[in-house]
Amino acid sequence: MFDNSTRYLILGKNGMLGKDLQVVFHDRDFVALGHDELEITDEEALKTAILNVQPDVIINTVAFKDVNKAESEEDKANQVNGYAVGKLAKICRDFGVTLVHISTDYVFDGRKKEGYSEEDLAEPINAYGRSKLLGEQLLIEAMEAEYKGDESENGKYFIIRTSYLFGKHGVNLLSKLLDNAKKGEKFKVINDQWACPTYTMDLAKQIKWILESNEYDSGIYHVVNSGKTNWYELAKTLLSDAGYDPELVYPCSITDWEASAARPQNSVLLNTKLPELRPWKEALIDYLG
Ligand SMILES: NC(=O)c1ccc[n+]([C@@H]2O[C@H](COP(=O)([O-])OP(=O)(O)OC[C@H]3O[C@@H](n4cnc5c(N)ncnc54)[C@H](OP(=O)(O)O)[C@@H]3O)[C@@H](O)[C@H]2O)c1
Repeated sequence: MFDNSTRYLILGKNGMLGKDLQVVFHDRDFVALGHDELEITDEEALKTAILNVQPDVIINTVAFKDVNKAESEEDKANQVNGYAVGKLAKICRDFGVTLVHISTDYVFDGRKKEGYSEEDLAEPINAYGRSKLLGEQLLIEAMEAEYKGDESENGKYFIIRTSYLFGKHGVNLLSKLLDNAKKGEKFKVINDQWACPTYTMDLAKQIKWILESNEYDSGIYHVVNSGKTNWYELAKTLLSDAGYDPELVYPCSITDWEASAARPQNSVLLNTKLPELRPWKEALIDYLG
């Protein structure tokens, strides 16, 4: 049962989502830790932190997030996004702590035009996606494995997959686009890669709501703002809402984009379990405000 007496531990304190979680949980009992305070791959440090804080719920936003770098540093990506999540889940299960873990649309290959539900088969096409899927798998394994030889209940967990995050506290594609527009620079943006942009404030509020509604079972959930788009349409809407000339952006294809990692072309996440979040265009106005 989660309510305003629940104690939270937020991991990834200085990240884009981590910062908005601290805003949303400001009226709750929480401790937040950043990379300088806790290295997530250090199992002993993880255990010590959890023993010190004694949380009821851990929200893990930590990630090795550089999709291109993950191609050449797959082992590191697997350590942070995969194995550390498995260790974290084991500790949570041992201590009876609920784990909320953030995952990604990049676990899908992007070939399904209608988008992906929570039940669809995950088949990542890049190292980052593989490492995040590894984290999901190890988490579920730890939470659902037969426990200490008895029939005790599984651990409680929520895997929240989201996509195209934008927030006020981080460098992201939107903040880069605004910086370029301020300088009056033209730039090309992909117009044939589809997903659901998601505002980190809306995601943080939904995480709080999922927990405190006390209605949802352990499992995988897709949490995105409603409506799909591509980066080009998103960029044009952003510039126009922010009072810049939308013609500063011009379209290009994902096949023209030079990047070491392949990206899923259509990674629209279908939310079939939770109430919908508001449309991304509305969230964008708040982001700019
Ligand atoms: N951003 C997106 O578009 C997007 C889309 C889908 C899913 N997601 C997922 O959403 C979550 C939050 O994303 P975000 O954009 O808020 O990420 P972010 O801004 O990059 O924050 C992640 C935080 O993790 C920390 N971190 C990295 N390696 C660590 C380690 N080994 N030990 C401890 N801390 C470490 C980073 O600290 P340092 O910077 O100091 O290393 C950073 O503050 C992630 O799980 C990500 O995979 C993001």
